[in-house]
Amino acid sequence: MEKRYSARALRRLAVALCLLWLPLPATVHAAGAEFSLKDYCPAGFQLNGEGCYLQSLYASYDSLQDSGVGGLKTGLPELRQGFSPRQIDLGRLLFFDPVLSGDHSMSCASCHDPNKGFSDGRALSVGSKGQLAKRSAPSLWNVGFLKRLFWDARASSLEEQMLGPLYDSHEMANTPEQLLTDLRASSAYRELFAQAFNGDSSIQLDQVYTAIAAFESSLISLNSRYDLYAHGYHEALNEAEIEGMNIFRSFVARCAECHTPPLFSHQQIAVIGTPEPNNRPLDPGVAAVTGDASQRGGFKVPSLRNIALTAPYMHSGRFATLREAAEFYTGGRGHAVPPGEKLSLHWHIWEPKLTGEELDRLVDFMGALTDESFMPQIPASVPSGLAPVVGVQ
Ligand code: HEC
Ligand code: HEC
Repeated sequence: MEKRYSARALRRLAVALCLLWLPLPATVHAAGAEFSLKDYCPAGFQLNGEGCYLQSLYASYDSLQDSGVGGLKTGLPELRQGFSPRQIDLGRLLFFDPVLSGDHSMSCASCHDPNKGFSDGRALSVGSKGQLAKRSAPSLWNVGFLKRLFWDARASSLEEQMLGPLYDSHEMANTPEQLLTDLRASSAYRELFAQAFNGDSSIQLDQVYTAIAAFESSLISLNSRYDLYAHGYHEALNEAEIEGMNIFRSFVARCAECHTPPLFSHQQIAVIGTPEPNNRPLDPGVAAVTGDASQRGGFKVPSLRNIALTAPYMHSGRFATLREAAEFYTGGRGHAVPPGEKLSLHWHIWEPKLTGEELDRLVDFMGALTDESFMPQIPASVPSGLAPVVGVQ
């Protein structure tokens, strides 16, 4: 029969052994404190009562003041926060654990790889059985600020969103029953869920979803060189980047009207008419969800935070570089709309006739939105005993 010791008992044993000046047996070390959850908040957050709350200079800015397009001191939208340090840390372990997928081959980090801006570097994602997903994997940086999720905005919370990848046969292909059975079979997970949820070691689905949402909401990227500039340190951007920022915010390019700082998305739907890769039919986007024909080809405006890290671009991964993505906007209104389609293109999609140099400056500016200073730690091992999975295998 397998014997199990609690983490505390093992730690006591370890201390006792040390006091006796005996060498520490390797097994005790490995099985002991390996999976205790952190009691402190992730970088950027402060503990207030039981929960972690973001500390950001943006919180001191009034959204109404200077709220013109791209105003430097515009406040942030509301963040999902107040999760406990342990819930966030449990979510971190679950995020990298392939036990979440039906055949134990794939974790959330397979397609949302921290080394690739929490995206996967592919035009279209690939599921656990090699199936091609319909769209490109978005970055998860700052996802806790989003009111609507997925390219077509079909989910309105992180918890609702994750039911997609977990149970979709094109992605992790699991079932709620199997997920619970697998997690409950792990004594390490039972112990950690009890630590995160008031001593309850039963493991419930909503606790799984809460922990993952808690971790996702801790992925904050608001310390780029652009942010230093916005907070008043004007040397943080070089001349080319400042020029790019001015073009970005101008009434000619109009980028900031949709990609509005500080999130670089105003979280609305826009029909802009990006092209599909060869031979693929038009993706109806939001219209397929709402049935509203005027939203055909409409997508949620994506944030441009860490955008330099997440090529290729657009819902279809159609553009390999930021330069190509920027160039799309100068191609003329509706230039990529397939013949026979009539899309209700957004009125800010026009023909700004940007020069090659102006496009280069836009790319320079978007490069100044990179910040990974609050990168979470990728676990070396996960409680299921499987090897953690990061990136496409
Ligand atoms: C097979 C690859 C794959 C896996 C595994 C995967 N995702 Fe995704 N994820 C995607 C793709 C593709 C999209 C965009 C789908 C769409 O919009 O139709 C997406 C979208 C999202 C979004 C929406 C982001 C936004 O800006 O709207 C979140 C949040 C997310 N995934 C979290 C997760 C979590 C949490 C897990 C693990 C439970 C996970 N994903 C597993 C590929 C994947
Ligand atoms: C009318 C609103 C609107 C305006 C104006 C706009 N965008 Fe976009 N942008 C979008 C939408 C919507 C998408 C997603 C479209 C898709 O996937 O088909 C997008 C996607 C992008 C992407 C790819 C993001 C990703 O994660 O793949 C980049 C880069 C981008 N825009 C840059 C710009 C630049 C630079 C400008 C100004 C020249 C600009 N945008 C103007 C709405 C807009």
